Amino acid sequence: MSNHMHYLLWRLGLAKPETQTTTDERNAISRHALGKKCLVEIGVWHGVTTCRIRAAMASDGVIYAIDPYPVGRLRISVQLLIAHREVSRIANGHVEWIRMKGDEAAHDLKTQIGGNVDFIFIDGDHSWEGLSGDWENWSPMVAPGGIIALHDSISTPTRPIDDAGSVRYTQAVIRNDKQYRVIDEVDSLTVLQKRT
Ligand SMILES: C[S@@+](CC[C@H](N)C(=O)[O-])C[C@H]1O[C@@H](n2cnc3c(N)ncnc32)[C@H](O)[C@@H]1O
Repeated sequence: MSNHMHYLLWRLGLAKPETQTTTDERNAISRHALGKKCLVEIGVWHGVTTCRIRAAMASDGVIYAIDPYPVGRLRISVQLLIAHREVSRIANGHVEWIRMKGDEAAHDLKTQIGGNVDFIFIDGDHSWEGLSGDWENWSPMVAPGGIIALHDSISTPTRPIDDAGSVRYTQAVIRNDKQYRVIDEVDSLTVLQKRT
């Protein structure tokens, strides 16, 4: 189905917003985002996981929802329209929409929130270079004890993605980062905590 057809069906209430996460992954994301105050999501699409994070975070928290949302032939991003509407339905905390790539947003937000971030969900560019850019720029901005959750970081029988750059970078680099330890693994999700 084309993006515009999906948008039309969504407007009519005949299609749901899309996500590639499993129910167990979404439950794990909610668990780890619970009560956090400075949260980041890299890769928002229709906002399904943003809604879960927003519902779980502290009522005085802020989530930075980061996605470049490239425009299509009609010069609009229907994904962005869907995400804004879906995420606005969750009455908790505050959302800052950042229409940039993850690594660009890190440079922009460094002085504002660097060292204070207590939860990041990375689900943007799944290439080796893409995840490398997000990890190198965002992992130093996390507070001690803070969480980074990575989607598509482990291959599973139902989602065989051994060749994905995000799986290879996670296994080769992130899991060997001495500043972090793995605290949870759910389907293709790896959850790490920054050492104190
Ligand atoms: C798999 S979807 C995210 C799905 C969402 N987290 C969910 O499950 O509800 C990936 C999204 O990442 C965005 N994206 C691609 N490259 C990116 C980058 N370098 N930085 C941030 N987002 C990026 C795409 O525009 C797309 O919306």
